[in-house]
Amino acid sequence: MELTHTILILAHLLGLAVLIGSPLGALPGAGGTHRPTLAVGLRRLLLSAATLQLLTGLALTALLEIDDAASVDHTKIAVKLGLLLVAGGLAAHLNRRPGQPHVRLWFLSLISAGTAAIAVLW
Ligand code: HEM
Repeated sequence: MELTHTILILAHLLGLAVLIGSPLGALPGAGGTHRPTLAVGLRRLLLSAATLQLLTGLALTALLEIDDAASVDHTKIAVKLGLLLVAGGLAAHLNRRPGQPHVRLWFLSLISAGTAAIAVLW
């Protein structure tokens, strides 16, 4: 149980790192480009990271639910779930909508960092 929890937290943190870091690395000023082939790979990476966050987050919630000694803050989990849906939506529409993809990249990174802050500070 302890090992499962540790592995899930590790995967959760790796997903977080990808959601925060890869949009920033893809900004034109950071050497990124919005060539279609690169953007397709970036979108796939971000959607995979969002899916990883969702699955590991749900599994961590389940572990807390079955632990009699732990208390589960359902409001916090609902807020994190909502923010993850926004981040996933931004990733899904990264290159489908015309104009300003770098604004969506910034938002995606900031929303993910905000979710991490909520996870730690709430
Ligand atoms: C972008 C999305 C997310 C980010 C950046 C994020 C970030 C984090 C971080 C940094 C922690 C460690 C906090 C600590 O141990 O003090 C954490 C723990 C946790 N996360 Fe997330 N999270 C995200 C999405 C989710 C979602 C969608 C769920 C639930 C469906 C979820 C459920 C949990 C739970 C239950 C824990 C606590 C595990 C424990 O203490 O045993 N997270 N998250």
